[in-house]
Amino acid sequence: MNIVIIGCGLIGRKRAAALSDDDILVACCDTDQNVLKKFADDFNCKPFSNYSDMIKEISFDIAIVSVVNKFAKEIIIKLLESHHHVLAEKPLGRNYDEAKDIYDCAVKKGMKIKTGFNHRFHPGIWKAKEILDNNEIGKVINIRSRYGHGGRPGMEKEWRASKDLCGGGELLDQGVHIIDLIRWFGGDITEVFGTTETKFWNMDVEDNAFAILKTTEDVTASFHVSWTNWKNIFSFEIFGTEGYIRIEGLGGSYGIEILEIGKRKKEGGVPDIENYEFPTNDVSWVNEWNEFKLSIEENRDSIGSGYDGLKANEVIAAIYDSHKLKKVVIID
Ligand SMILES: NC(=O)c1ccc[n+]([C@@H]2O[C@H](COP(=O)([O-])OP(=O)(O)OC[C@H]3O[C@@H](n4cnc5c(N)ncnc54)[C@H](O)[C@@H]3O)[C@@H](O)[C@H]2O)c1
Repeated sequence: MNIVIIGCGLIGRKRAAALSDDDILVACCDTDQNVLKKFADDFNCKPFSNYSDMIKEISFDIAIVSVVNKFAKEIIIKLLESHHHVLAEKPLGRNYDEAKDIYDCAVKKGMKIKTGFNHRFHPGIWKAKEILDNNEIGKVINIRSRYGHGGRPGMEKEWRASKDLCGGGELLDQGVHIIDLIRWFGGDITEVFGTTETKFWNMDVEDNAFAILKTTEDVTASFHVSWTNWKNIFSFEIFGTEGYIRIEGLGGSYGIEILEIGKRKKEGGVPDIENYEFPTNDVSWVNEWNEFKLSIEENRDSIGSGYDGLKANEVIAAIYDSHKLKKVVIID
């Protein structure tokens, strides 16, 4: 397939490195000339500083959009309208309304839209889904998660720290992955109570968020996401009627990815515990990309689809509302 990448920063490079041998990266686009030149040289593709020119001049099948959030919606909609499939980095637009416009456009044009939810494709998370689907820990009762890092000097000047450029803070940045995973393991979210706060970084978006959520499957979930977690953390725990799963780490600075499964003993006491380690390089980008291509071939929704991106943004909007109103918000 012929591929283009719009937004050649950190994630654009990860996406380019995850393409398969049978993909041809035909063009790339970035508004920063230095970033664009280096990317085009490194990945041997035609550079464009304007995505409209690229759409006019180049023939391609799938576009990967990994730009600063503010500019994503307009670009994704132009790509869908010109009959291209799109893998759009999370979050799907800066808020629910932007996600809805994107999703509706994809449906109207009959094109595939995938949200960049690579966390579903981390080996620990993927294995947890298999364990759950094999009914090894029974029916899910509740989920508990923590995700965060401690920022970096100058972070308050980055685009992520701007409400206008990003759309939100840590709730939207890392929280969106956790909300997506809670939906995947626990069902659609119907009730939220949440609070957001800016406690340390001098920025107009939140650096911490806490939420309690309830789902259609009668699962209660809680999470805390943080930019003041001075030592990086990823922790996701699922408790079922017959046991539990604990996933920690995502590799790199988050520590080796591990999965622990504990099976409850009828007589009580310490459960039967098994441990798995996934010390490989981060395979989530390659696995997500291959799944997206397969979903196009099979003409079905991808795992971590545009719809999933829309639903995650709906939950985020409800958490912001809950914080403002100081009460539980129901999602119809
Ligand atoms: N899946 C994940 O885990 C994950 C992790 C980090 C970031 N992201 C997402 O990826 C996206 C990019 O993040 P990043 O960390 O790579 O940021 P980045 O700042 O490294 O890269 C963004 C690039 O977009 C370019 N850009 C901005 N406006 C543009 C436009 N109109 N046209 C073309 N290029 C434009 C910038 O010049 C920059 O090079 C964001 O949406 C972010 O939320 C996803």
